[in-house]
Amino acid sequence: MAKASPRFVCQECGSVTTKWAGKCEACGAWNSILEEAARDEIPKGLSGGKGRRIDFVALEGSSAPLPRLITGIGELDRVCGGGLVPGSCLLVGGDPGIGKSTLLLQASAALSAGAKVAYISGEEAVDQVRMRAHRLGHARAGVALASATSLRDIVATLDGPDAPNVVVIDSIQTVYADSIEAAPGTVSQVRAAAAELIRLAKRRGFVLFLVGHVTKEGTIAGPRVLEHMVDTVLYFEGDRGHQFRILRATKNRFGATDEIGVFEMTEQGLSEVANPSALFLAERRGNVSGSCVYAGIEGSRPMLVEIQALVAPSSLSSPRRAVVGWDTGRLAMVMAVLDARCGLALSGNDVYLNVAGGLRITEPAADLAVAAALLSSSSDVPVPADMVVFGEVGLSGEIRAVAQADLRLKEAAKLGFAQALVPSRPRRDKSVGASAGPLTIRTVGHLQDVLGLFRPA
Ligand code: TYD
Ligand code: MG
Repeated sequence: MAKASPRFVCQECGSVTTKWAGKCEACGAWNSILEEAARDEIPKGLSGGKGRRIDFVALEGSSAPLPRLITGIGELDRVCGGGLVPGSCLLVGGDPGIGKSTLLLQASAALSAGAKVAYISGEEAVDQVRMRAHRLGHARAGVALASATSLRDIVATLDGPDAPNVVVIDSIQTVYADSIEAAPGTVSQVRAAAAELIRLAKRRGFVLFLVGHVTKEGTIAGPRVLEHMVDTVLYFEGDRGHQFRILRATKNRFGATDEIGVFEMTEQGLSEVANPSALFLAERRGNVSGSCVYAGIEGSRPMLVEIQALVAPSSLSSPRRAVVGWDTGRLAMVMAVLDARCGLALSGNDVYLNVAGGLRITEPAADLAVAAALLSSSSDVPVPADMVVFGEVGLSGEIRAVAQADLRLKEAAKLGFAQALVPSRPRRDKSVGASAGPLTIRTVGHLQDVLGLFRPA
């Protein structure tokens, strides 16, 4: 066999090169390349033996709906697509300290009522996990707990006819395969350990939770390489300064993505938030300029959030633009449209934009609410406190219709809002506000129509 040549792997994106470099060519990360032991080369093409013919079947079939394990934590079940599918693997990513271990310990305890659950921690000693379970009020739950990091030991323990129904590995970065030379947490280790555990989960039919840490660049370490191996990727996010935590599915082979679950971190662990809109609006003060309530959709749920803007004269030659919870490029676009189509020049101002409560919004439907918050702050005229806003802004200043207008309006009506500022052109399929109930609908076709709202009295 030819001598294995050295192999250098970027720990950020997993790309492989034959020589070391300070910067990864593929993803641009610095100091991320490490030498790892070469794996067996993959043989080229086919050699020897003939394959077996595969049988084709019709699309239509009588497969029964997947049986699912219900955790009983409603927000988690919904994000997973209605419970956990046996044999599937879920990757739970998030910043250190955000609450991944807490969530999975709570889920384990809840699941242990009707299933066999094993929680394997490589990060914390058994006593630490016990203490946490005690604090969460789950000290008596029937969860089998162990502290282990050796892949060989973990597989030997789980691979049997009496395998558990649910296995939590906290975290995959601590698991160590002794057949691989690289250090724990490197791409080779993480990938090999995950592949082995996923194979085992499929064979024994248990649900596998892998906890993965996110690096400061925002990917789970080693991890873009893990995302395609698992069935479901859940990110646990939130601002540690806020008590809200958001569980977001970014990939799900067994359900919709972009579904989110909202939790609150309390003294007794994570509690579910049944009505997120009320929570996100709880600290809002009415009649303040620069604040606007946006009626958004997260996954299948409507969610009202406050968007705050502050426009202040700047003494800097290139004024500051700071955005929390929204896209910087999108803000630049809305400001450019306000400038070019409505004559509102903000180039001499610092502009700050904040989505209150720590939520991150990705929908373009928030454009109009952002524009309203900016107009309100720069004119010092408040957006009416009982008004919700949504609509997409086009480059010529036109306001475009957005999906699920009725759902947004219904949520606004439910929370006691009285008026809504919405796009005038309805989507072809729906008339806006068909079920607006008590809401007064104010439609706008162009951003210029919005200016009238903010004339100082
Ligand atoms: P943890 O689950 O350890 O985070 P991760 O596994 O993602 O690193 O969460 C730790 C944080 O949660 C810690 O800062 C303390 C806080 N916390 C509470 O506020 N209440 C609780 O009941 C628990 C268990 C943790
Ligand atoms: Mg942890």
